[in-house]
Amino acid sequence: MRSLLFVPGDSPKKLDKSMASGADALIVDLEDSISAANKEAARATALAFLRNAKAAKQRPRLLVRVNAIETGLIDGDLDAVMAAAPDAIMLPKAEGGASVIHLDAKLAVREAENGLPDNATGIVALATETATAMFLVGTFRNASTRLSGLTWGAEDLSADLGAQANRDTDGNFLDPYRLARSLCLAGAASAGVQPIDTVYVDFRNDAGLRRETEEARRDGFTAKMAIHPGQVAIINEVFTPTREAVAHARRVIDAFAAAPGGGVVGIDGVMYDRPHLIRAQTLLARAKDAGIKV
Ligand code: COA
Ligand code: MG
Repeated sequence: MRSLLFVPGDSPKKLDKSMASGADALIVDLEDSISAANKEAARATALAFLRNAKAAKQRPRLLVRVNAIETGLIDGDLDAVMAAAPDAIMLPKAEGGASVIHLDAKLAVREAENGLPDNATGIVALATETATAMFLVGTFRNASTRLSGLTWGAEDLSADLGAQANRDTDGNFLDPYRLARSLCLAGAASAGVQPIDTVYVDFRNDAGLRRETEEARRDGFTAKMAIHPGQVAIINEVFTPTREAVAHARRVIDAFAAAPGGGVVGIDGVMYDRPHLIRAQTLLARAKDAGIKV
């Protein structure tokens, strides 16, 4: 998955539109984009959409962002949407591995109730939305085999920290949010799951989105969330390995294959050792995921 598009769960129009957005995944939102008065209606709208979308011949992955564990709404959310067997649940305000284990148990019950295979439902956690969560990012490792990705959020974190802003006047994230971003990346690598960069809310600013997405790729993120269909093409493009990058990765892998037992090779006067081989293998796997012949 390169792009994950948020779609408010109470908007049949946006849900419908999202299917043609080109996003690798949709995140049907029952949480922050839904007013308290609309929570119940959103569950029904989301369920109807998921049922239809699952029947489509070609479809993006379908995630549902439920309300946080503390809200008391999460059980009703899961009762509603698990009947349609979404591919994964996004857990907001996660506080480390314990909250993933908690959700894992809730999912196991709903899978049994709905006749779904055990572990059919994945989990993607929003790992840095509270101050407490920042200290627990290292605890996702081995929490649950359902966990497939970690992402981070700056909006809720800034509310929890009592901050007035999370970006400077040039649009760059301020220190606490850069830390959250780095912790998410390290937490995801430590847990062996996909690191997913946060949303870019200035949705008419394509240049700003591209820059932030390229910085995310440079640092190790392999996907980014979107809030508007207009953001999807840029995100997909940035996270699709280029032909040159694929060719280079192939050369590195071939050079190691041609020197069995060797831990180091030289290509065009540059040294490559084990970390370079791993990077090349990871890049080819991502290219394959994006539908590129490798
Ligand atoms: N998914 C699907 N369709 C969307 C969409 C989304 N996330 N965001 C906008 N669209 C649709 C609009 O409905 C509109 O459709 P139309 O041309 O048929 O009228 C079209 O795309 C263009 O939208 P635009 O007018 O540019 O934006 P807007 O003012 O309608 O919507 C937002 C702006 C921010 C309200 C909207 O993008 C949105 O709801 N984003 C998701 C918010 C969210 O889920 N937040 C929670 C996570 S941070
Ligand atoms: Mg939020």
